[in-house]
Amino acid sequence: MTKDGSILVVDDEIVIRALLVDILTEEGYAVETAGSARDALNLLQQDNNFVILFTDIMMPEMDGIELIREARKITPTVIPIVMTGFATLETARAAVKEGAYDYVLKPFSLSEIKLAVTNAIERHRLENENARLREINELFNISEKITGMRDEEALLDFVLRAALDRVGARRGSLMVTTPDGKALEVAASVGLPEEAAKTIVEMGRGISGMVAKSARPLLVEDIGQSPDIEQISRRLQGDSFVSVPLEQKWPSGYNGPLSTIEPHVLGVLNVTDKKDGSRFTEGDLKILSIVANHAAAALENARLIKSVEDAHLSTLQSIALLLEAKDAYTHGHSQRVRNYSVWAARRLGMAETDIEVLRLGAALHDVGKVGVKDGILNKRGEPTPEEWETIRRHPLVGYEVLMPVRVLRPEHRQLVRGHHERMDGSGYPDGLPGDQLSPVTRVIIVADAYDAMASDRAYRSALSPAQILEQLKQHSGTQFDPQVANAFVELVESGKTPPQE
Ligand SMILES: [Fe+2]
Repeated sequence: MTKDGSILVVDDEIVIRALLVDILTEEGYAVETAGSARDALNLLQQDNNFVILFTDIMMPEMDGIELIREARKITPTVIPIVMTGFATLETARAAVKEGAYDYVLKPFSLSEIKLAVTNAIERHRLENENARLREINELFNISEKITGMRDEEALLDFVLRAALDRVGARRGSLMVTTPDGKALEVAASVGLPEEAAKTIVEMGRGISGMVAKSARPLLVEDIGQSPDIEQISRRLQGDSFVSVPLEQKWPSGYNGPLSTIEPHVLGVLNVTDKKDGSRFTEGDLKILSIVANHAAAALENARLIKSVEDAHLSTLQSIALLLEAKDAYTHGHSQRVRNYSVWAARRLGMAETDIEVLRLGAALHDVGKVGVKDGILNKRGEPTPEEWETIRRHPLVGYEVLMPVRVLRPEHRQLVRGHHERMDGSGYPDGLPGDQLSPVTRVIIVADAYDAMASDRAYRSALSPAQILEQLKQHSGTQFDPQVANAFVELVESGKTPPQE
């Protein structure tokens, strides 16, 4: 116990104190004594390493039960054991109810004391072990949760909140390195004023800049004791705070020997203001460093996935453009359908998420034409019924081609699949009626048909505005959603072209 903590013996009788010191030091424990509850509280305040508090119950000024209550405010983990004579056995039981772990009756034997201490230490060990296990478990949960997160903003917000929660802090921020590596900007914050959340600090400046530049964590237990730190800290840091770097262990895509590269810092996690008013400890620093390490790995992962997905999407969009490039008549079709769809969705007051689905979905809507032979696509004149059959498969082919693309959501694929459906259910490939088509699908149906009408085709010339108006009105409700068709009627009548998306 000399290493892990010591025993505090409190009794107003010097004989008892001396006796216990003899017994316990003989057993190899470190022992301190106090002749009153007041002295005991003073000792606890000076030293938080006490594991067991042996206290008499009947003492002048403050009794043992009250001492236990006060002691626990200072050292919540201390294990109290009360000593009492037979006359106050009831009081001893009451003390146990109040939180005393055990009691020994005076006059006590050597073995009773030893047993009480051994039991208390075992309990202390188990409590420590449980606390450690709980901590590891919590950290594991955080790590597991963030590893699967792909949205950077949500990931950083979660990390910050989890970090604050783990160390019981109220305020904090998570800053990320700007793309040029020269500064840090706040990516997530809790409890900070709005203007502070927009702060950008230069690398090497202020606490965060210093931690990022040196890639070393910083624990300031008490700013009053660190005048050099106080000079560079901003008022947002409390009296006690922790800043830890989010360190990337090796650059993404790096395949060479790991020993030859410097790790670099993706950001800094700042935490301050403990809920219980206490100061941050080495233990907090350790926990926050673990969280920051996992966060750095998860952030790097999310960015890597994003760049792979972006590359994948660009490839797909290039394929769609290549397909169009082969056909002089559909050149620019996907881009125009995208412009029309986004314009109409805005006109109809659709949500930004729907507009996003249309933006990407429209770019890819005819990707299934990859499965239609060039001869058929470029054929002059009306296709034969067999050729029509092949052409009519392209929404389904597109849907299947896009199936393995994880970055696309089901709404994107449904949009591609459904762009030749009709409100009356006579479209293809599924023949779904209007009430089973999503609003975005109903938009692209009209946008796609509109562009087809307004462009030359191998087998016919573009329709005039008057003819397009007639078609829109004629097929409103049967082929087209009436609201969407109306929007396009207004577009033709205005003579305008929607902006490039
Ligand atoms: Fe199509």
